[in-house]
Amino acid sequence: MVTGLVCAVCGTAVPISQALSWKCPLATDVDTHHVLHFENSVEPFRPTDDSNPYLAFRKYLAVDSFGAAIGLSEAERIRIIQETNEAVASIAGTGFLRTPLYRSSELSDALGFTAEGGVWIKDETHNVAGSHKARHLFSELLHLLFAEAAGIAPWTVSTRPPLAIASCGNAAIAASTLAAAVRWPIYVHVPPAATAEVLTALTELDADVRVCARLPEDEAGDPCVLRFREAVANGAIAFGVQGTENAWCLDGGRTIGWEMTEDMGPLMDRIFIQVGGGAFAACVGASLRSAGVHPKLHAVQTEGCAPLARAWENALATGGARNAGPRWNECMWPWETTPVSIADGILDDETYDWIGVLDSMADTGGGPVVVSEQHVMQAYEWAHSLTSVNVSATGVAGLAGLIAMRSDIANDERVVVVMSGVERVEAN
Ligand SMILES: Cc1ncc(COP(=O)(O)O)c(C=O)c1O
Ligand SMILES: [Zn+2]
Repeated sequence: MVTGLVCAVCGTAVPISQALSWKCPLATDVDTHHVLHFENSVEPFRPTDDSNPYLAFRKYLAVDSFGAAIGLSEAERIRIIQETNEAVASIAGTGFLRTPLYRSSELSDALGFTAEGGVWIKDETHNVAGSHKARHLFSELLHLLFAEAAGIAPWTVSTRPPLAIASCGNAAIAASTLAAAVRWPIYVHVPPAATAEVLTALTELDADVRVCARLPEDEAGDPCVLRFREAVANGAIAFGVQGTENAWCLDGGRTIGWEMTEDMGPLMDRIFIQVGGGAFAACVGASLRSAGVHPKLHAVQTEGCAPLARAWENALATGGARNAGPRWNECMWPWETTPVSIADGILDDETYDWIGVLDSMADTGGGPVVVSEQHVMQAYEWAHSLTSVNVSATGVAGLAGLIAMRSDIANDERVVVVMSGVERVEAN
């Protein structure tokens, strides 16, 4: 179970019973370098047999500990998870189900692995809203619904403040899908360059889409994030996938790693994860550690935007990669040049959840990988010709990391890549 939250930067503790504990209490608009992490009790990994990962792994989820701490009975918690999942299924066509993990003999052969080793694909393109993003957001939503059910939310169902997110891709679609499922209003802040395909999807989900052009008076930084922060300052609820804005995204994302643990456990030698804001890799790393398996974790970014590899080097040079949170200013800052890559979903100029990713890479003997555009193109080509996964360029960046590192990996190693983010065809 999860026993509490603690800031990985300043050490401030927050009790698990505290509602709406999105941020470290010491985080301010000026000092944003704080992030709450969950503290888990040490216990053997024994999930229950349920097709819904939020029920199968319920006792390891922070949101379940939160629900219990605020007085909801086990039956009530289970009921809310089930009913919300059914509501999601009615909007998304599927509720949350375990996603497939299987060995691809074609990719394994193409990469020269022996029959004892190979490449395993965790296919998240079948998850709710076509990527892993909804997994992170569902624990934020459950936190809100649990607080409401226990009568401790500062609103009622009819006076709910809007949710808010800044994203023009998978996270926006996932957030709008979950919001639509429970009829919760949501503001989605997108750049003028958002694709017609994404805008159509958001509109169909009844999201309040706000196109954010840069205003003359704007300070530096992404205008979508500036408008998102203004909305939150005016009472909206941060409903995104950055642990720095809402730590509870770091809860549900762990279900992916727990599923991998159930399916392969200690058979996994390495895992490659594509990294944008870092919540995904931080969650996979944290879940594997809590379940007691330690495959080497490799965080993959592209040459056009690689602040995490820089943070890794800086952390090693200033006292080590583990527990580097208090050294934020020495390790992590935004990428200076305009980020570019065909893997355009991982171009976050700052890896907000870098601390958890560094901890996991250091714990497991892994490390960051920076790939070229050629590696991403090769990965995309192989994913589409050798597998049946309809995955985007962003979603094959982990495989690109494996391709880039292949000569350092033995032929009989068992390597997992996560393909996430279904390829969305651009509307005309
Ligand atoms: C398909 C896909 N894979 C990976 C990522 C990276 O996740 P994170 O931002 O949590 O690092 C994203 C989004 O950023 C994504 O859309
Ligand atoms: Zn703090």
